[in-house]
Parts: sequence; C-alpha cells; structure tokens
Amino acid sequence: MNEEIIELKGLTKRYGYGDTESFALKDFDLTIKRGEFIMIMGPSGCGKTTLLNIIGLLDRPTSGEYILNGENIANVSSSRQARIRAKKIGFIFQNFNLIEDLSILENVALPLIYVGQPRTVRLKNASESLKRFHLGEKEYYYPSQLSGGQQQRAAIARAVVSNPEIILADEPTGNLDSRTSYMVMDELKKIHAEGNTIVMVTHNPALTVYATRVINMLDGQIATDVKTVADHNLPQPINVKVKKRKHLKKRRH
Ligand SMILES: Nc1ncnc2c1ncn2[C@@H]1O[C@H](COP(=O)(O)OP(=O)(O)O)[C@@H](O)[C@H]1O
Ligand SMILES: [Mg+2]
Repeated sequence: MNEEIIELKGLTKRYGYGDTESFALKDFDLTIKRGEFIMIMGPSGCGKTTLLNIIGLLDRPTSGEYILNGENIANVSSSRQARIRAKKIGFIFQNFNLIEDLSILENVALPLIYVGQPRTVRLKNASESLKRFHLGEKEYYYPSQLSGGQQQRAAIARAVVSNPEIILADEPTGNLDSRTSYMVMDELKKIHAEGNTIVMVTHNPALTVYATRVINMLDGQIATDVKTVADHNLPQPINVKVKKRKHLKKRRH
C-alpha cells in the first residue's frame, strides 16, 4: 500500500535572467510515498517554501515534472490545478492565513466552496471539523478573538475539512510557543495516523520526532534525506482497514 503519491523529477524554479538569474530549486528529484510524514529543514532561502508551493499547486516550476497519483500535472491549466488542489491538498501556513472578517466557522467552510457543496452542508461539515479540533465553542468567534494556538487549530480544521490526502504545512509552529507547538503537532500526528501524507517545513529539530523522514535542503537541492521509520511501519489509509475488517467478518460467518 506504500505506492508513490508524488514524484518530482528534475524540478527547477528559476528567478531572473542573466546576471540576476537565481535558482530557488535546482534539478530537484523527490518521491513521496502515501502515508509518509516528511519534515523539510534547511537554512532560510534554500527553497523550502518554493518546494511546498509547487507541491501545493500554488506555484509552477520553470521546468521539470510533477506527477501526482501517476499523472503529470506540471503543465495542466490553472483551473484544473485549482480543482485538483481543492480535492487533494490541504495547506497550513505559519501565520494561519485566516480571513479576519469571516467567522471561524465560515473560514473553515471556505475550501468546500471549491468542491461544490451547498452552503448548509458546508457549514455543517465545517462545524464538525472544528469540533474535532476542540473549537466547537468558538464557531462564531473571529480570528482576532482567538489565541495563536486556537487560530492554528482552526487553520488545521480548514486544511482537512474536505478530506484531502495530502497536507502541506509551512512552518506551522513558527509563530507558536513550545507548549502550543506540541498541541498542534499532536493534531498533525492524528491526521497522519489516519493514513494521510504530510509534508511539513520546520526550523525546530525537536519536532522531527513526529516525522517518518527528514530531508535537509541546501541551495535548492536535497543535502540529506533520512528515513526514520521503515515503509512497512507507515500508517495505512483508513479505507484499507475498513476493507480488511469486512473481509474478516465474512470469514467468521
Ligand atoms: N518571487 C520571487 N522573486 C525572486 N526570488 C524569489 C522569489 N521567491 C523566492 N525567491 C528566492 O528563492 C529562494 C528560495 O526562497 P524560499 O523558497 O522562500 O526559501 P525558504 O522557504 O527555504 O526560506 C530565495 O533565495 C528567495 O530569495
Ligand atoms: Mg519559507
């Protein structure tokens, strides 16, 4: 069940030309398997955000291939990319990126517009997602009325509300104190245990205990790539477990 979910081949992101030419990513190769929890580390400016934005379809590479679930999507139209993003990818940012003049409930419901749910269904699903992250009583609050940790938990609720299989997080604990950081990491750990794939950028080496693989980047390339758990110990997607259970029941009869 550990098939490749993402393959990046020869990805390059170039800024400028001639004398001002620089590379945020240079001939970058990476294969990500379903269920991995990858942490990306490396000095400021080494290309971590660029990488995450390309994986999250918020940015395009200058050249190279991006294969998602077996399909090369590097050059598909922006509207197609937006649809793929809405269905498959949840994003969590360092500064939470909640919309200040929408309630927490409306913020969390936003991604569901793009998957085509009617408003009442969106609000119901958003409410359930908020309850899951212990914010059920804050539905009608506005972002500024919440603490940093609560805002990031709301942002996580928003990232997972449409059940994406890939969660991307760019320094999600960068603006949080240590205790709150661990609360947020525990939520990500649960999302990972459900079989989702997570790619997270962090500056905090202590958080790598949550990862199954740690990648260090330097100057737009991979410097080190270390697996911390074996592939067969990765969490399996929930739907596979359900199938297995059904199978067992049948055999018992
Ligand atoms: N819009 C842009 N124009 C020019 N250079 C950029 C732009 N965005 C990023 N860069 C450059 O690309 C490199 C990688 O940036 P980034 O991916 O944000 O690094 P990190 O997240 O690791 O700090 C940096 O040198 C940065 O200055
Ligand atoms: Mg960055």
